[in-house]
Amino acid sequence: MAEAILQVRNLKKYFKTNSGMLHAVDDISFDVREGKTLGIVGESGCGKSTAGRTILRLLEHTSGQVIFDGVDITKLSGNKLRKVRKDMQIIFQDPFSSLDPKKTISQTISEPIRVNRILTDKKQVEERVLELMKTVGLAERLINSYPHELDGGRRQRIGIARALAVLPKLIVCDEPVSALDVSIQAQILNLLKELQNKMNLTYIFITHDLSVVNHFSDDIAVMYLGSIVEKAPAEELFNNPLHPYTRALLSAIPVPDLRHKRERISLKGEVVSPINLPDECRFANRCFECEARCRRGIPPLLEVSPDHFVACVHHTPPEAAGRAAGEALA
Ligand SMILES: Nc1ncnc2c1ncn2[C@@H]1O[C@H](COP(=O)(O)OP(=O)(O)OP(=O)(O)O)[C@@H](O)[C@H]1O
Ligand SMILES: [Mg+2]
Repeated sequence: MAEAILQVRNLKKYFKTNSGMLHAVDDISFDVREGKTLGIVGESGCGKSTAGRTILRLLEHTSGQVIFDGVDITKLSGNKLRKVRKDMQIIFQDPFSSLDPKKTISQTISEPIRVNRILTDKKQVEERVLELMKTVGLAERLINSYPHELDGGRRQRIGIARALAVLPKLIVCDEPVSALDVSIQAQILNLLKELQNKMNLTYIFITHDLSVVNHFSDDIAVMYLGSIVEKAPAEELFNNPLHPYTRALLSAIPVPDLRHKRERISLKGEVVSPINLPDECRFANRCFECEARCRRGIPPLLEVSPDHFVACVHHTPPEAAGRAAGEALA
């Protein structure tokens, strides 16, 4: 089994707002194995992007640890932080707004190469840009094109080439295909998979759409209101979802094979505010299995079978009590 290149432990990111402290990421723990993909899934606003950005230190964390290659990077500064930033890149949802409209493909891809002093010779930089364009499937003739001259798929390919330019080890892919046409989504997913195999890249793949991570992820973490409510190897999560929220998400995925069709579970009620959260299961007000005991505290994320973690009182075996995810993984 591949070693964990990234270990996230009890990570919290709160935002101070006028109405109180907003718990965007509230005590999440997981491992990401080298060369593998961890999918993070959940509805809009559940904290996926904040988690990704806090891990990359694009946002400062409130508390917890982010151990990358054996080093807690939340404590780094200066040159050491710069080196880690190079090793961990991000690909954004909307390639159009993440690319500078005034820069050509060549300027966009060469920038990180020059800034990080990976190459300094002009000719070598140009050769490297062309090589990267080839790697991500962009035709050489587009080298002096601007983002507005290209379609969404090609723009996302530029975003990927730019991330690859610094030879990263880990890439946070934040909804990288959500803004693309369905036909192009598959092409970009295939490209990411191909690059992962070729370069032994590790991915954190963020999406609100479970069907997208289905074939893409090795492990999946399901987030609800800042917390992870279920986490398991992808196949196990799809075959044996335990948390009512995961079951509801899965029931919404259309399946062509009628034998595996699940009854659609539609969730009622609103997501509660992430500010001043009640001391109870955060899903309780929308849960179709809610009982009085669900209101008596926040259920911890516990390992209920090997590598399968769930935070739900209905799935808390007595022998697992007290074994929260952070401890079990440590
Ligand atoms: N800079 C900020 N200041 C205050 N609140 C923030 C800030 N950034 C995010 N939030 C809040 O943190 C919570 C998590 O937001 P986040 O963008 O991480 O969610 P998400 O799961 O990525 O959603 P989406 O699927 O829409 O991208 C939301 O309630 C959001 O309003
Ligand atoms: Mg987001």
